[in-house]
Amino acid sequence: MNKKKLDDESFHHHDHDHSHLDFTRGIAMNSDADESTPDPFAHVQSVTRQHRKEHGCGAFTFDDGRALTRLAQERQPKRILELGTGLGYTACCLAYGSPDSRVDTIEFDLEHVELAREQIEKCDLGGRIIVHHGTFDIVLKTLQPGYDLVFFDGLEPTFETVMQMRELLVEGGLLICGNLQLSSGTEATQLATELADASHWKSCDPIENGHTIVLIKQN
Ligand SMILES: C[S@@+](CC[C@H](N)C(=O)[O-])C[C@H]1O[C@@H](n2cnc3c(N)ncnc32)[C@H](O)[C@@H]1O
Repeated sequence: MNKKKLDDESFHHHDHDHSHLDFTRGIAMNSDADESTPDPFAHVQSVTRQHRKEHGCGAFTFDDGRALTRLAQERQPKRILELGTGLGYTACCLAYGSPDSRVDTIEFDLEHVELAREQIEKCDLGGRIIVHHGTFDIVLKTLQPGYDLVFFDGLEPTFETVMQMRELLVEGGLLICGNLQLSSGTEATQLATELADASHWKSCDPIENGHTIVLIKQN
């Protein structure tokens, strides 16, 4: 999800100065996934867009599921964690990219949880994707550390959530974090400082047209 999309879809939020939060500056722009590669879960993305249009909820679907699939294909993570299930689109993309993985995904909206479970079953991925119903902060405390890949796609990430995700990741594990541009104030400054700390994170090419950062956890 990117800010343009939020604006386009009439999401009401205040425009803040995020110039200090330009995580993509100086990083080679990764062209998003090859447009010619078909997306096996495009129908789930469409269902999610339709659902959001009808309900005006926060289920903004990710623009670049194929880039997630590609990252999972490259790294073959065994344990994947997602924050922000929506209707299950990105959980499917990640699970598909790494066939031996198990995906834990977290969502607090019960209707989304039920629709996601339905979509995931239809994609034959129900055996490998577990949808946890609850808020990020509560569910994260119940999970065992040792994730190889963590993907944040909730609304704006908080510093505390980023630190919880860091705790759950293995050293060398991948953090894919969207929607940083929606954070503001002290939270944004704290996040920018943490994520730019080279002793904690190694930065990779971003995805989703530069809107979603990709980092490797260091020691
Ligand atoms: C951007 S949507 C996820 C879209 C999904 N990843 C996709 O690409 O289709 C964010 C989802 O996170 C959920 N969410 C937002 N804040 C949350 C929180 N604090 N705890 C749990 N779920 C949350 C919303 O209900 C929404 O369904």
